[in-house]
Amino acid sequence: MSKRALVTGVTGQDGAYLAKLLLDKGYEVYGLVARRSSDTRWRLRELGIESRINYLEGDLADACSIQRAVIKAKPHEIYNLGAQSFVGSSWDQPVTTGIVDGLGVTHLLEAIRQFSPEARFYQASTSEMFGLIQAEKQDESTPFYPRSPYGVAKLYGHWITINYRESFNLHASSGILFNHESPLRGIEFVTRKVTDAVARIKLGKQRELRLGNIDAKRDWGFAGDYVEAMWLMLQQDKADDYVVATGVTTTVRDMCQLAFAHVGLDYQEHVVIDPQFFRPAEVEVLLGNPGKAERQLGWRPTTSLESLIQMMVEADLRRVGRE
Ligand code: NAP
Ligand code: GDD
Repeated sequence: MSKRALVTGVTGQDGAYLAKLLLDKGYEVYGLVARRSSDTRWRLRELGIESRINYLEGDLADACSIQRAVIKAKPHEIYNLGAQSFVGSSWDQPVTTGIVDGLGVTHLLEAIRQFSPEARFYQASTSEMFGLIQAEKQDESTPFYPRSPYGVAKLYGHWITINYRESFNLHASSGILFNHESPLRGIEFVTRKVTDAVARIKLGKQRELRLGNIDAKRDWGFAGDYVEAMWLMLQQDKADDYVVATGVTTTVRDMCQLAFAHVGLDYQEHVVIDPQFFRPAEVEVLLGNPGKAERQLGWRPTTSLESLIQMMVEADLRRVGRE
């Protein structure tokens, strides 16, 4: 009998890669999708798996829909990847972000507690919870200091996961994932904004790229590697929390330089600083220590930032070329 997995956020970057990984391992995959006025399945199509997923309509803000999804899917494993995931928007929609990214986790945990207590649960926590960093390299014991409504909401989701594990003995794990990117990344995030612009500038369709704080530093990895870590967490006998990162941090400026240089361009001739992209409170630097995930899960990142950015620029050159 094949295992069943329920994935919230299946139409997002990580949801698409995770669904592919699970299907390749022989799982039956149920994907929670919120009703939208236009198509959101382009990533699943790009990976060639759109027709292989069992779609269940639901929204993390709607506890009834979450209960129904858990009852219908009867999952062995549940991956909670659904979220309002863009930090910048969390100042414009702080309440929605709090309900979906924070309370939404409780909706799911309550449904598991009542209807599927044997199911294993993964919560998509984030390095954004470290915010104003309290240690040079952040690991599972570093204190949190979130700097955005998104980070605050995710911190609630993180602690409620730990609380339900301790209160009700659920197999609930939380992955504290640092930034991870891919050709399927949303266009609003800085890596994809840059690689899309590089392709457009190279092909003569755009002249400049407007960015905010390019001195910010991030620990960037490849999403395809990171979904493997999520799956590994749910294969452990004991649920736990893990930092997933590369252990290397790079400025937005240097990431831009890599992307433009890949097509023979100088970023300084195209990048314009635009204060509209500055954030009310910034996370200046993130740098993770993935030692525990390496030791206990046997997980390791396989993709350097340079090859990740090249992969993204190449994909955007193909896309823009087709337009
Ligand atoms: P993403 O591409 O923005 O995908 C988010 C997904 O959540 C989409 O499928 C979206 O559906 C869905 N969603 C949004 N609001 C929802 C709601 N109210 N109810 C149900 N589903 C909803 O994000 P991602 O990069 O794949 O990230 C996956 C998860 O990991 C998120 O929880 C994110 O916060 C977290 N995370 C990401 C990173 C990273 O660097 N990528 C790092 C740490 C943690 P639509 O397609 O319909 O909008
Ligand atoms: N998006 C964006 N757009 N960011 C910019 C820009 C711009 O024009 N210019 C500079 N930046 C800076 C941001 O200020 C931030 O310091 C950095 O680039 C990265 O921004 P994002 O790519 O939007 O990612 P993020 O770090 O805020 O959040 C992502 O990573 C988190 C994990 O640390 C998201 O995927 C979150 O969902 C995730 O939890």
